[in-house]
Amino acid sequence: MSTLPSPAAAPAAPHPDQAAPDKLTPLLERWRKVPGGLLPLLHEVQAAFGYVPSSTVPRIARALGLSRAEVHGVISFYHDFRSQPPAQHRLRVCQAESCQAMGSRELTAGLEQRLGCTLDQPRADGTWALESVYCLGLCAASPALMLDGQLHARVGLAQAEALIQQTEELRA
Ligand code: FES
Repeated sequence: MSTLPSPAAAPAAPHPDQAAPDKLTPLLERWRKVPGGLLPLLHEVQAAFGYVPSSTVPRIARALGLSRAEVHGVISFYHDFRSQPPAQHRLRVCQAESCQAMGSRELTAGLEQRLGCTLDQPRADGTWALESVYCLGLCAASPALMLDGQLHARVGLAQAEALIQQTEELRA
């Protein structure tokens, strides 16, 4: 028979305010007194953690004299801020006009099938994120995509699938 620990012996769960690792503190110190510091602070938080953990929001709000709702509002307004850990691989497919005219919607549909996820909804296993982007500066060589920060131009579905295959083989 197993014994449950008494309430007094159970370790206390950390309060969400305390859950973020201490690497947040120097970022808060740098930006707390800078007018308009929220955006650069959020960028630095994302660079440090890979995303903006929800546990950091109360501390950010308190440091900058804002409400949690204001901080949440900015995080959700800007597409570049993530509230969840990033996928291992990020495939961004241009959905802007020139690439659409050259088949990026069909390319995207094929990639959704290949990766088993939908656009802007990361795969549940955290391996791939298929994301929309609006112009990668390669309009003359549409359709364009970016895989893990690397630009690729005039990409058809077969080439995109080959890039995914190479990436998966390198990871294996
Ligand atoms: S429209 Fe796709 S790269 Fe510019």
